[in-house]
Amino acid sequence: MAEAILGSEFPEPPGVARNAALMQRFAAQLGAQGRRVVLITSGGTKVPLEARTVRFLDNFSSGRRGAASAESFLRAGYGVLFLHRARSAFPFAHHFPPQAWLSALRPARSEPEGPGGRLLLEAEAAALPGFADALLSYQDAANAGTFLAVEFTTLNDYLHLLQAAAQALSPLGSNAMFYLAAAVSDFYVPASEMPEHKIQSSGGPLQITMKMVPKMLSPLVKDWAPKAFVISFKLETDPSVVIDHARKALETYCHQVVVANILESRRSYVVIVTKDSETQLSLSDEEMEKGMEIEEKIVSNLQSRHIAFINEKN
Ligand code: PMT
Repeated sequence: MAEAILGSEFPEPPGVARNAALMQRFAAQLGAQGRRVVLITSGGTKVPLEARTVRFLDNFSSGRRGAASAESFLRAGYGVLFLHRARSAFPFAHHFPPQAWLSALRPARSEPEGPGGRLLLEAEAAALPGFADALLSYQDAANAGTFLAVEFTTLNDYLHLLQAAAQALSPLGSNAMFYLAAAVSDFYVPASEMPEHKIQSSGGPLQITMKMVPKMLSPLVKDWAPKAFVISFKLETDPSVVIDHARKALETYCHQVVVANILESRRSYVVIVTKDSETQLSLSDEEMEKGMEIEEKIVSNLQSRHIAFINEKN
C-alpha cells in the first residue's frame, strides 16, 4: 500500500522496521487497557538537495505546538505517540532551555565518589520554576508506558514513520486519534534526480525543479486507519484564505477536523473547523501572562469531540 503511494522515490530509511515494532507494542499495550491514544506529529521536515547532503530545504516549525499538546493529552489520560523532528521542542523539556538548567543546577554531592555513585544535584527552586513538576510528569508517563517518542529528520523518514504509526494504531479503531501538527514539505527532489555530490557554486545560479509530495492524509483516512478520529492542521499567512482552505481539506480527505491557524498569531488564536462548525479559540492577555498555552484549549475541545465520535461509532 505504502509502496504504491511512496514508490521507489521514497526508499525506506533504516530504523523504520524497529520503530514500527516499538509502536505496535505501545499501541497493543494501551489498546488492551482500553485507553484512548493520540499520534502527534510535530516539527518540520528536512528535504535534501544532494544525496550526500550538504544543503537542504527546511521550514519554520519549532515543534512547540506538538510538544505542548502532548503534555495536555497526557494530562487528559491519553497515551501519546510523539512523532517529532529530531531536536525540535520536546514535551516537558521545551520550557527549560539548556542555558536555564546549566546555570541553575549545581552538583551537591556524589555518594560514593566515582562513576558507580549517585550524583545529587541542587538548584534554587525560584531559578527553575516548574522544573521538578515537569521531570515528575515526564517520568510518570514514561514509567506508565503512556508516552513513546519517535524521531524523524527528513521528509522521507516522516512519510515512512507516519505510515508505520498509522498502521500500529489502526487496531484501536475509533479510540485512536491522529493530530497532524507537523509542517511537512510539499516539495521534494526525487532520489533519481538528486545529484550525488555537493552542488558546485562554480556552476552558476541554481535552478531546481521540485516534485509534489503526495498528501498522506488521503491513504491515512482511507486505508491505514479508516476508523480513527483524524485532525489535520492548516497554516496560512493570509487570514482571508485560511478557513476556505481548511474547508477544502475536509471535503477532499473526508476526515473529522481541521485546526486553522495563521503564522503570526498561532500561539494565541486558532479556529477548529468541522463539516458543520467553526469554533474560535483564543488566549486573553491575562491567560498569556499566567503562562497558559492555547494547546490546553485545543486539546480540551478535541477531547470532547473525540469522545462524542467514539460514542457515535459504538
Ligand atoms: O511547530 P510550531 O512552530 O509550534 O507551529 C505549529 C504549526 C503552525 C506548524 C501547526 O500548527 C500547523 O499548522 N501545522 C500544519 C502546517 C500546514 O499547513 O501543513 P499543510 O497545509 O502543508 O498540510 C496540511 C495537513 O496535511 C497537515 O496536518 C500536515 O501534517 C498533513 N500533511 C502534509 C503534507 C503531506 N505530504 N502529508 C500530510 O499528511
